[in-house]
Parts: sequence; C-alpha cells; structure tokens
Amino acid sequence: MLYPELFKQLESVRWDMDKDIPWDRFDAGRLSDEQAQTIKMNAITEWSALPATEMFLRDNKDDSDFSAFMSIWFFEEQKHSLVLMEYLKRFRPDLAPTEQELHEVRFEFEPAPALETLMLHFCGEIRLNHWYRRAAEWHTEPVIKHIYQTLSQDEARHGGAYLRYMKRAINKCGDEAKAAFAKVGVLMASARRTAQALHPTNLHVNKNLFPRDTIQSRLPNPEWLEHWLDTQIKFDAVWENKVVERILHNMSLLMDRSFQSVQELNRYRKELTASLGQRQPVPSAA
Ligand SMILES: [Fe+2]
Ligand SMILES: [Fe+2]
Repeated sequence: MLYPELFKQLESVRWDMDKDIPWDRFDAGRLSDEQAQTIKMNAITEWSALPATEMFLRDNKDDSDFSAFMSIWFFEEQKHSLVLMEYLKRFRPDLAPTEQELHEVRFEFEPAPALETLMLHFCGEIRLNHWYRRAAEWHTEPVIKHIYQTLSQDEARHGGAYLRYMKRAINKCGDEAKAAFAKVGVLMASARRTAQALHPTNLHVNKNLFPRDTIQSRLPNPEWLEHWLDTQIKFDAVWENKVVERILHNMSLLMDRSFQSVQELNRYRKELTASLGQRQPVPSAA
C-alpha cells in the first residue's frame, strides 16, 4: 500500500491557510480587475476535483489503496479552491464564486479506463504546475503571487504521487499499463499540435451533455482559459515545451527507455499495441 507513506509525506509539507499565506502583505494597488477575474475562474476550476473524485472512486472500486489516497488529493484540491475564494472574499468580495457557480461544475463523468484516467491526471498536474508558476509571475499583487507559488508546488507533489501509482500499475499489469500511459501521454504532450489546452478540465467527459460536458464549458466565462493562457499568463511555446519535456522525461523513467520526442513515444505506443494485440485473443462480441 502506498497510501500510508503518501499520507505521511504530504502531511509533513502541508501548509496552513492562516499562518502560511502572508495575508497582511496585501497591496490593493497591485491587483487589477482582469487579474482578479482570473482568480475566480481558477477557484471554480479547482472545485472540479469534486466530480473528478467521484469518478476516481467509482472507477477504482477494486483499488482501496488508491481510493484512500483520493481523500488526500480531494482535500488538497478543495483547499486550493478555498484559498482562492478566501482571497476574493477578503479583497474582491464581488468576485467570490457563488455556491451555484461552484455546483455547476459538478456533473457526472462517463466511466473511463482507470489507468488512462490516472495518466491523464498525472499529465494534468504537471501542466497545472507550469500554468501556476506562470500565473505567479504574471500576477503583481504579492499575496496572490504567493498563493499561486504554493499551489504550483502542491500540483507537482500530486503529480509525484500519481507517478507512484503508475509505477505500481506497471509492476502489476506490465505492458497493459504501459500502453495506457503511452496512449494518453502522446495525447497530452501534443498540445501545440492541437491548439487546444490539454488539461482534464478541458476534455469532453460526457457525450450526453455535449457541448457542456467539459469543466471549462460550465464556468461563468467558458472562454477564459484560452485567453488566460494566450494573452494573460502568456503560456508560450517555451513553456509548453517544458511541460512536454517533463512528461517525456517521466515516461522515459517509467518505461525504462529514452523518449526525446512525442513521435518517439508514439512509435513505442504502436509497438506496445501491436504486441498486446498479438498476445490477446480477439474479444468476443459479448
Ligand atoms: Fe489544485
Ligand atoms: Fe493537483
């Protein structure tokens, strides 16, 4: 079980909402209206850990270790939403999200293969770690800069915890796990070619609700993410490359094979799929 060790690790670096955020350093003159608006959108996006947790628990019924870890992840993500809301309540109460706005992002995600969801969230944490690092640079008000730095470190740790579960999955399921990770890795590292921000909150997760079946589509301003990335925090090709490098680096360690580009990872994915297809009997229609 990884849960006891991860609990200990994450507990030891946990920050305190009152003591570790320098609330008294707030400088009203350094927070613009457009900056404050983006904090609201991030607060709601973080709240979407709620439906994601419901999905994780539903799709991992046979995995009590991972499900127990969800209690930590869920707690920390909700705390991210809470600290951003606390900031708005203190300094821009007119922009604090309403309970209804938060509730809007709670909807059912369709069941998905657990290993693919795990990899999706691993990549999501890496990406968010980089987005928040850029957000911390873009913001000019000292308290919110500090908050985004704090959140970005948490997201990196979440990625590290998911990576532990991915290693465990490879030990248990071998090539089947590798194929799932490579498949989602190729997708999530291809953002520049798709011109769409690839994060779990931006993917369609329930075709019956299309097009309102992404978290982003259910925000008060569904267009904010692209705007935030392109013109506000300016998440450019250099930053995008850092995300891709991080994903490829971790895939290389995980698969014990070097991937210098997404194309190389894709070739590996095809090899795996081919060899799995040979070994597995053709499934019957039932
Ligand atoms: Fe978060
Ligand atoms: Fe996270």
